[in-house]
Amino acid sequence: MVLSDKFNRQFEYLRLSVTDVCNFSCQYCLPDGYKRSHQQRFLSLDEIQQVVSVFAELGTKKVRITGGEPCLRSDLPRVIDLVRKQDAVEKIALTTNGFRLAKMAAQLKDAGLNSVNVSIDSFDPKQFQLITGYSDLAGILKGVEIAANIGLEIKLNLVLMKQFNASVLKNVLVFIKDKPITFRFIELMETGDNPIFFEQQHMRASNIETSLQENGFTRVLTDKLSGPAKVYQHPNYIGKVGVISPYETGFCDSCNRLRVSAIGKLHLCLFGEQGYDLRWGLNDEKRENLIAYLQSVVATKKASHFLHERQTGATTHLAMLGG
Ligand code: GTP
Ligand code: 5AD
Ligand code: SF4
Repeated sequence: MVLSDKFNRQFEYLRLSVTDVCNFSCQYCLPDGYKRSHQQRFLSLDEIQQVVSVFAELGTKKVRITGGEPCLRSDLPRVIDLVRKQDAVEKIALTTNGFRLAKMAAQLKDAGLNSVNVSIDSFDPKQFQLITGYSDLAGILKGVEIAANIGLEIKLNLVLMKQFNASVLKNVLVFIKDKPITFRFIELMETGDNPIFFEQQHMRASNIETSLQENGFTRVLTDKLSGPAKVYQHPNYIGKVGVISPYETGFCDSCNRLRVSAIGKLHLCLFGEQGYDLRWGLNDEKRENLIAYLQSVVATKKASHFLHERQTGATTHLAMLGG
């Protein structure tokens, strides 16, 4: 049994947010810092267990834990441990801002974590602080190094912004030359919180792709549990470079993921305003009803977010949905 929609897309990848609290204030996400926008408590460990077990029964093979900042939850290792206990789940990943990675990497790996995505929006500490509000870039990079050394798969994310774009590809290529790390450039996405910023800073990632191709990088085929990045490699570089271009036509054709927010709502798309409450069904008595409900809701997923047609589109702030 696999969750699927009427466009024959299969959803084997669950992005599960465990908190929407964040201690950073990235200009493109939470420019004024985190402010609670709801009164509900976050999913408990028991509820997370129910979500993951129901999705596993419905074909989920990869679970990405997101936030807000998931490392702000003190029970994060227990969350990972309970995901690991689902036999059907082959891969457990975490998206983090990295502020606690140096301290937690080993414990998270022991709990069952396979892979970590970390935001590195600049290699320049001052610029990094300007973008994120956080001063210890060196500490985050230390965490990345520790995580890589103990065998966690690492991807780094940089959101492209016109203002901070100068020489960014050059720095990235130096960084990945001798490290088994995939560095991804992400096109800035418009959210309900950043329309003016989006207007000023959005730039397409196509020029990065062109530069990569001109420099001898070639496209790598990714597997079906991979996310939306187009990935490039070069024989002289150990690391890889990825590009995430959500405004490109066809971006949604290969969508393979569903999202559950920290307050237990199913979101069919990052850009879907509507969330479908699942909390009522997170108990053994309602399990069969919840399964039927999930199947019927997922079947209604739209073909695309259609942002490439509208050119604008707002969602709730991405911290609610884990980016
Ligand atoms: P992996 O390929 O499994 O590593 O996952 P990922 O790249 O999706 O994970 P990550 O949390 O690092 O997200 C990277 C960027 O992709 C973020 O900016 C996300 O907002 C964006 N992204 C992830 N999923 C979607 C999606 O379904 N739609 C859109 N438009 N963007 C997405
Ligand atoms: N546009 C593009 N990427 C974003 N992220 C957060 N907000 C946005 C946005 N508006 C990224 C973060 C992180 C990932 C989870 O999502 O930088 O790497
Ligand atoms: Fe926090 Fe991530 Fe949003 Fe930055 S992008 S404010 S780290 S949730």
